[in-house]
Amino acid sequence: MDDYQTFIQAIYKKTGIDLSLYKEAQMKRRLTSLRDKRGFRSFEAYYQALTKDQELFEEFLQRMTINVSEFFRNRPRWDVLDQKLLPALVKNTPKLKVWSAACSTGEEPYSLSILLRKHLRSDRFSILATDLDQSILDRACSGYYTERALKEVTEQHVNAYFDSEGAAYRVKKELQQPITFRRHNLLADPYEEGFDLIVCRNVMIYFTEQAKAEIYQRFSRALKPGGLLFVGSTEQIFNPEQYGLKTADTFFYQKSQG
Ligand SMILES: C[S@@+](CC[C@H](N)C(=O)[O-])C[C@H]1O[C@@H](n2cnc3c(N)ncnc32)[C@H](O)[C@@H]1O
Repeated sequence: MDDYQTFIQAIYKKTGIDLSLYKEAQMKRRLTSLRDKRGFRSFEAYYQALTKDQELFEEFLQRMTINVSEFFRNRPRWDVLDQKLLPALVKNTPKLKVWSAACSTGEEPYSLSILLRKHLRSDRFSILATDLDQSILDRACSGYYTERALKEVTEQHVNAYFDSEGAAYRVKKELQQPITFRRHNLLADPYEEGFDLIVCRNVMIYFTEQAKAEIYQRFSRALKPGGLLFVGSTEQIFNPEQYGLKTADTFFYQKSQG
């Protein structure tokens, strides 16, 4: 077995993270450049160092998970959710159950919280926000953002839901209150069920075709009949019917009504 494959197995044993389910060329390139930067000539030597040096290990985790996010990423899609899809969705349920899967630094669940408050009182929805990376979830929980991250948030919503603290903006408690942050590995952990809306954007691009198919199947099972899956703007699902889903709008898929 080659050096990289042995590394993948060792990481899986240590962390439960299966790098073989991520597209190999891309992941190998990222990790090789990090390994080289730290002065290791082989993955074996790099792994030995990772097991002894917590900082090096954290850095490795940071590099393998790509964390870029922003509020209302691809704004026109959020407008479709707001104006076309949410009005119908909120009619069908006393309490909307939403999952922001692979939520990174929190911009996505907070965007959802802003949007849902336009349609529902905050005790009529809950948002589960999950990611593989605990340190990123800690940042999400703290709720601090730069002005740049807020570029797609309207001035009215910035004023209503953020406190400015020096150069940063901090999310107000009322926006955080419906959100539960929790560590979750999409490739390994059980999925909760009964969701009206699952938002999973800009992470499937890193997975192999086989891993993606498995996840779409599991998302479909996790949705209520009529529930919606909202994917990223490069992540169109071909043949959604194979997962019991149909296209509701571009990048939105709806589970069949039972
Ligand atoms: C590019 S960010 C996407 C953030 C947000 N969804 C968005 O669209 O702006 C990708 C996130 O996926 C997370 N991730 C990677 N592999 C994962 C896995 N197996 N399970 C859960 N999250 C994962 C990373 O930690 C990272 O925070």
